[in-house]
Amino acid sequence: MARLDRLLANLGYGSRREVNSLVRDGKVVLDGATLKDAGARIAVTADLPARMTISGVAVDPPAPLTLMMHKPLGVVCSHKEVGRSVYELLPHRWRARMPGLSTVGRLDKETSGLLLITDDGPFLHRVISPRAHVAKRYVATLDRPMSGEEGAIFAAGTLMLEGETDPLEPAVLEALGTHQAQLTITEGRYHQVRRMFAAVGNHVTALHRDRIGGLGLPGDLEPGAWRLLTPADHAAIFG
Ligand code: URA
Repeated sequence: MARLDRLLANLGYGSRREVNSLVRDGKVVLDGATLKDAGARIAVTADLPARMTISGVAVDPPAPLTLMMHKPLGVVCSHKEVGRSVYELLPHRWRARMPGLSTVGRLDKETSGLLLITDDGPFLHRVISPRAHVAKRYVATLDRPMSGEEGAIFAAGTLMLEGETDPLEPAVLEALGTHQAQLTITEGRYHQVRRMFAAVGNHVTALHRDRIGGLGLPGDLEPGAWRLLTPADHAAIFG
């Protein structure tokens, strides 16, 4: 249960004072009845958007909220980096949500593909923790033809990236052509895929993530588009 004014403020609908006036003005409707008391206690369930409207529009989904985005090229994953961020592709109000949304790991500005965004800390840690072994699959396009030895080198679990002291976990490479490969990794070190190919004398010219665990990037999710994760998507990640 949550106080209505706190719930709406945490969803980004305004300060406590502002959401109080939304209630006073009769803009908040639950199960067909106008709510008059900003201090009312509301059961916060996942189906709230089907039951509550604000000014006639379904309320935003409450926490915990997780979505998948087809990250386009040229946008950054962090609030701190300069440039347009993935958060700018979401509804403006969501920037004021508490708890706030974070990306589940990061994709470089020049990497596209499947990105999860969540306010659910335990979920985030479960996906990114190397101990959980959730596989992330990338398609890398390369500057030079592969030698044929990359698969064995990446699978060995001994590859050391420049400047690091721990070898990488084994990774699985599948060649898609002379200049393109699918690479599945279970860690998320800084620029990992680009640095792995650099370690074998190659250079990644394009990088796209198409899978996290058993969850593939849907073919109909265009670059820049996003949708909420369904329970089936959630299960697929860890399945
Ligand atoms: N590895 C990279 O080099 N870049 C990414 O964005 C993700 C994995």
